[in-house]
Amino acid sequence: MTSILAINGSYRKGGVTDQAVGAMSEALRAAGADVEIVFLREYPIEFCKNCRECTQPPGNVPGVCVQKDGMQELIDKIEKSDGFILAAPTNFGSVSAVFKRFMERLVCYAYWPWGKAAPRYRKKEVPPKKAVLVSSCAAPGIIGRLFYTSGKDLKAAAKTIGAKPVGIAFTGLAAGVPGYRLSEREQAKARAMALKLLKG
Ligand SMILES: Cc1cc2nc3c(=O)[nH]c(=O)nc-3n(C[C@H](O)[C@H](O)[C@H](O)COP(=O)(O)O)c2cc1C
Repeated sequence: MTSILAINGSYRKGGVTDQAVGAMSEALRAAGADVEIVFLREYPIEFCKNCRECTQPPGNVPGVCVQKDGMQELIDKIEKSDGFILAAPTNFGSVSAVFKRFMERLVCYAYWPWGKAAPRYRKKEVPPKKAVLVSSCAAPGIIGRLFYTSGKDLKAAAKTIGAKPVGIAFTGLAAGVPGYRLSEREQAKARAMALKLLKG
């Protein structure tokens, strides 16, 4: 069975991100996939300490962090999954802080020994998995996609964990009313995009 891991960086229960990830998960489960949703807002992840211990050992498996929190469990889930939904709302033009904190901890996916100016992606030579990306913003979607970095941030997270994005569901004009509900059309688009994870 294909196993999909959704990593959700929204602060808001039932918000736009939860709805999009929910629609995607339903479609994937209906198609026979196993889906687990990780809500970063509930996950015990500390800030990266920038000690770079995890980046020192060579190889294509993630290095081990000196901090003993929930991150290792999350990395084990990432390593076991066949594909991903990576989701975060656009806050101040980029992914939410809780998603950024998670991203910084993904430094264990880099081989970056002391003396090297730049890291090497550990998953670079490994066949890529697939990811779909999810974001939303108050501005029109086209503005969000062109001028905000949330899409790029999510792409960077996908690349780091060894996944190739196959689509982005970016909902614009998503903050005009409290409790914005995704339209049927937006939900259908999210469902169709998620199913790309199971193709090929
Ligand atoms: C702190 C904060 C910063 C935001 N920054 C932006 C922004 O820079 N541009 C924008 O278009 N929308 C911005 N928004 C609106 C959110 O992107 C939008 O409400 C999003 O759909 C929230 O997702 P959620 O329902 O999963 O919480 C911001 C909202 C908050 C609370």
